[in-house]
Amino acid sequence: MTEKSAIMEFFDYFSKLFGERWPALLESLKGDGCATELRFGEVQEPYFLDEASVFAAESLGVSPGDRVLDMCAAPGGKTLVIASKLKGEGSLQSNDRSPDRRLRLQHVIENSLPERWRSVINVTGYDGMKFGLHRKESFDKILLDAPCSSDRHVLNSPSHLEVWSAKRVKRLSVEQGALLASAADALVPGGTLVYSTCALSPLENDDVVKKILKKRPAMRLDEITEIPEGADRTECGVHILPDRAAGRGPIFCARLKKSAE
Ligand SMILES: C[S@@+](CC[C@H](N)C(=O)[O-])C[C@H]1O[C@@H](n2cnc3c(N)ncnc32)[C@H](O)[C@@H]1O
Repeated sequence: MTEKSAIMEFFDYFSKLFGERWPALLESLKGDGCATELRFGEVQEPYFLDEASVFAAESLGVSPGDRVLDMCAAPGGKTLVIASKLKGEGSLQSNDRSPDRRLRLQHVIENSLPERWRSVINVTGYDGMKFGLHRKESFDKILLDAPCSSDRHVLNSPSHLEVWSAKRVKRLSVEQGALLASAADALVPGGTLVYSTCALSPLENDDVVKKILKKRPAMRLDEITEIPEGADRTECGVHILPDRAAGRGPIFCARLKKSAE
């Protein structure tokens, strides 16, 4: 496909998906976003994270003592939110397969968290797809912030926009499904899982969740009751999009629970 037609395919795909909403959504996606400062001590470095991402990490409902897996954790914004809920009690495995991004994750953890909170974090570099097999029923809470199309980033980066394709969206949704199945298997009975992406397409969001509900009958949806102003409820979760949610997002998140039996 030529570069020009890849760009046209992007606009065509989303204008069909969002209809009349697309022009306003498109403008809002070109904006600066809505970052909040995370700061956990006077000597710690601040970290700036979109408020929608903070919401996704908080919706996991982590408490001190939980055994938590952040399966795709780099560069680490959501790991910081989770660590701030554990407060140094329990454990957090912050995993990411990419060595470069893992270095950034390590830097963020070392520089933005107080030592006692850091002491329960283990940074690892496994393929997330392997957790279900090798760490079966091992975690009370899992965040799967999955690799996705990152449409806001694509839109604002000509080199990414030029290689965008609907085929890639489909390929990513298959990968997301495999990671979600692995996360479901690594969860203890009674445990909680949050699936999130920063993608716009339902193929990477609701559809991935719907498939796992069919494939893993022990998993069920757990509705997130309080959602940010302007966020949309979808069939399985919450979609925070910047045109209606004061510049926040895009973030999709859905919460699932595993039956206790
Ligand atoms: C959306 S980003 C995560 C952002 C992160 N949660 C945060 O809040 O900063 C997705 C991450 O998934 C990682 N990744 C992609 N495929 C993976 C896999 N199979 N196993 C583990 N990590 C993977 C990528 O390296 C990337 O850092």
